[in-house]
Amino acid sequence: MNRSSAARAATGGVKVRETFTGRKAFIITAVGSAVGLGNIWRFPYITYENGGGAFLIPYLVALLTAGIPILFFDYAIGHRFRGSPPLAFRRLHPATEFIGWFQVGVCFLISVYYAAIIAWACSYTWFSFTQAWGDDAEGFFFGEYLQYDGGGTEGAGLSVDFVAQVGWPLVAVWAVLLVCLAAGVRRGIAMVSIIGIPVLVVMFVALVVYSLTLEGAGMGLDALFTPDWAALGDPSVWIAAYGQIFFTLSVGFGIMITYASYLKRRSNTTGSGLVVGFANSSFELLAGIGVFAALGFLAFAAGTAVDEVASSGLGLAFVAFPTIISEAPLSALVGVLFFGSLVLAGFTSQISILEVVIASVKDKTGWSRLVTVAVVGGASAVTSIILLGGVSGLTILDVVDAFSNNIGIVGGALLAAVVVSWVVRKLPVLTAGLNEHSSFKVGIVWRVLISVVLPVVLGWLLILDVRDKISAGYGGYDTWVVIGFGWGAIVFVAALAVVGTLFPWGGRSAMSTEDPDADEDAVATVDTGGPGDADRREGGER
Ligand code: ALA
Repeated sequence: MNRSSAARAATGGVKVRETFTGRKAFIITAVGSAVGLGNIWRFPYITYENGGGAFLIPYLVALLTAGIPILFFDYAIGHRFRGSPPLAFRRLHPATEFIGWFQVGVCFLISVYYAAIIAWACSYTWFSFTQAWGDDAEGFFFGEYLQYDGGGTEGAGLSVDFVAQVGWPLVAVWAVLLVCLAAGVRRGIAMVSIIGIPVLVVMFVALVVYSLTLEGAGMGLDALFTPDWAALGDPSVWIAAYGQIFFTLSVGFGIMITYASYLKRRSNTTGSGLVVGFANSSFELLAGIGVFAALGFLAFAAGTAVDEVASSGLGLAFVAFPTIISEAPLSALVGVLFFGSLVLAGFTSQISILEVVIASVKDKTGWSRLVTVAVVGGASAVTSIILLGGVSGLTILDVVDAFSNNIGIVGGALLAAVVVSWVVRKLPVLTAGLNEHSSFKVGIVWRVLISVVLPVVLGWLLILDVRDKISAGYGGYDTWVVIGFGWGAIVFVAALAVVGTLFPWGGRSAMSTEDPDADEDAVATVDTGGPGDADRREGGER
């Protein structure tokens, strides 16, 4: 009897929910989700731009008052109610299912453009061998490689004209992604991080050590860490810190709910959360040091100041770094280490983002994983390839990113915190669930953070951001582009929250596993001989 039929027989025919093999597999997969593009190219620049060393204070405050508490909140919902966000929220209280679909919408949008950045990083890993960008990394990236047409600015319309060197790597990234997702939680999702994260850590540490040996590295670190204390009085610095924490920890958009739903009942959720949170921040700090040491070298070589060479997100990865790679000794190796790290970090996060969408549709429809991956993953892939594989892809990426991150993620987290705390009043249930098997107990402080501090802080952030986007638009793009792709993205997410909720539950999914505990022991009795079974034989997760 194979594993799934044995498990099904043990539950009298009820479908069992897949689980991680053990605590280690869960932690490494959650770290794989958290450590992503946001750590490598977003954190270093955000820190530099928002007060340097002084930024570490709002960052730490945001980590402790929002990041870790929401991580626990997501774990509590996913673990106690054993479902993707819509199913878990529905089980928490039927009136809250729409929050789950809101988060699914945000994940869909992010997955569509996140894949494109991974595809670019794949191309650049290859380009590193020959430094294909030549002497003009900027001209190469925007012109020769992306063939960016400036669509969406100064009256230039958007075009989806296919760019072969961008589009085909994107097709390849999606193909590998869908194969991994189709392989399931243990053999696909967890395995990607179990293999990818150690490789990433080795590659990235080697890169950081190398960067620190370059001439000018100290100048870069000075620029990064010299504190500008006055920045602490600027609200936008605090917005940046909270925004970064949500994105980097993968909290507030359903990922950790979904992953926690694959944990076994007797799991030390808060203990694992602390490991994931601090591992992610350590990697982020490492990235800051490595990236700014390298930028210091670039500034030194060019005889200029670090702020002349430091640029934001994509510019940092695809313009500044290629230039550093060309200038540095062992160019090809450095290029492969940097862009290979981006690919690995991005891929292990992208898989978690798309799994939210897959798991949610699978739970709602009762379809098999294979069918869901083919239908939902296929639709995401086609959307991504059409929109991001064309000459105006960069505009679409930038606008959708700005709106789905700041308004989508923050809005979804705010909605969840307010509704769960004040409307359906389920924080006591979640507290009990978290404390049941965890080493780190939560209590009144956690409840106050979720029910009072977070709604105030997130509400304030959201109002400032929405006000800014309404009055100033975004990024200098034409108004119709900001309305169509920016506000349109938010309307899409809101519409999905309604349509997803109204869509009838199918198959045996939600209703057949109404008791979230039903599946636990069935899985635990089946020994597949796979990695982690030893963990279970020795007493499971804790
Ligand atoms: N947490 C992921 C990142 O930092 C999404 O990129």
